[in-house]
Amino acid sequence: MDEITNKVARQYTEYAYPPPPDDLTATASMRPGIYCDPGLYGPLLWPEGRAVEGLDILVAGCGTFQAAVLAFHNPTCRVVGIDLSPASLGHHAYLREKHELSNLELFQGDIHEVGGLGRSFDYVVSTGVLHHLPDPSVGLAALRDTLRPGGAMFLMVYGATLRTGVYMLQDAFRRMGLTMDDAPKVRAMLEALPSHHFIHAYLKVAPDLGHDVGVVDTFLHPQDAAYDVPGLLAWVRGAGLEFQGWAQNHIYYPQSLVRGPAVEITQALPDEEQWAVVEKLLCVAGTHSFVCRHPGEARRPGFGAEGLSLRPLLRPDAVITANNQLEIGKALYDPTQAELAVIRLATGAATIAEIMDDPAFAAFPAEQREAYGRSTFERLWKIGAVFLGV
Ligand SMILES: C[S@@+](CC[C@H](N)C(=O)[O-])C[C@H]1O[C@@H](n2cnc3c(N)ncnc32)[C@H](O)[C@@H]1O
Repeated sequence: MDEITNKVARQYTEYAYPPPPDDLTATASMRPGIYCDPGLYGPLLWPEGRAVEGLDILVAGCGTFQAAVLAFHNPTCRVVGIDLSPASLGHHAYLREKHELSNLELFQGDIHEVGGLGRSFDYVVSTGVLHHLPDPSVGLAALRDTLRPGGAMFLMVYGATLRTGVYMLQDAFRRMGLTMDDAPKVRAMLEALPSHHFIHAYLKVAPDLGHDVGVVDTFLHPQDAAYDVPGLLAWVRGAGLEFQGWAQNHIYYPQSLVRGPAVEITQALPDEEQWAVVEKLLCVAGTHSFVCRHPGEARRPGFGAEGLSLRPLLRPDAVITANNQLEIGKALYDPTQAELAVIRLATGAATIAEIMDDPAFAAFPAEQREAYGRSTFERLWKIGAVFLGV
């Protein structure tokens, strides 16, 4: 094992991450936020439609409970978890026994050597891991080689823009000679920083700085890289994979959070440019979660005439509230009556053309209905309300 991977292994052995639940039944309510769960987010992985029963799944760098939670909620799938950290695998073993997860196998090992397992998978998950490798491209290539034709890979890596302040402070703390046992000092130093410091954008949304494990993972990590959108797309292509799409479209397309003249200007750009611009305008992507496939296999909806044959399905993280608002994560939208009507018909069974044939829209001329259906579902997809089966 190389020197950096050794240091990373030491950190995650002494500071196992993330802090795990003791009981997986408690994770049912957080499941809509687990975007890598194939049982809920299958259409994100395979927009062309694929049964998500019986999958062989690899969770690479599974941490303290991720492979167990996927095995628990997807009992027909066979899940393999690998990780460097015996402490993290220890918690996995506890959960496996507690919930009798006969569909979960665990291996202590390095992603670089995952090929040594001699296995291949329909679905590969690796979140919060590849950016800790000395060369993330080498790790990504190792994972790609385990992915079967027709498979999907769900990845999460750090986003560079929102983490700008993190890297400034990592550099300062490294020069001060701080080590992973210095979380209390880091906490005190964060409190004393000037209010204009770049880190405050990150601290406002940082999920896990309430405990030492999170402080160490964020500020005292021995190896940590981050990507902006163009860098990420180039990295994925460089590894011989094809980018398919984001887990949460609303932070990459301008339709949801961007305001003012930038909306119209940005919408006119090609998709990849839109994502790059929105990332820089919003500065909210501390991480990038996305799906990639083997070359030629990625599927993304088109919104021209072919848009009429897309099959919309309301996403598990999008809910129509009792007072008819559309709630997606923390964002609330006020859909029109017509939008509500089409959303209620987004069950995954009907195409946009079929939905617009519903008697509810009979008063409108056919071309108007079709144009309305296509543009409404395009917007709903770009704000992260629906999947669109292709
Ligand atoms: C930030 S945690 C994320 C855990 C999990 N994927 C999740 O999202 O909850 C990173 C995990 O990756 C593991 N890891 C880091 N480098 C690795 C490598 N080269 N091979 C295997 N596991 C690795 C660490 O031990 C740690 O458990």
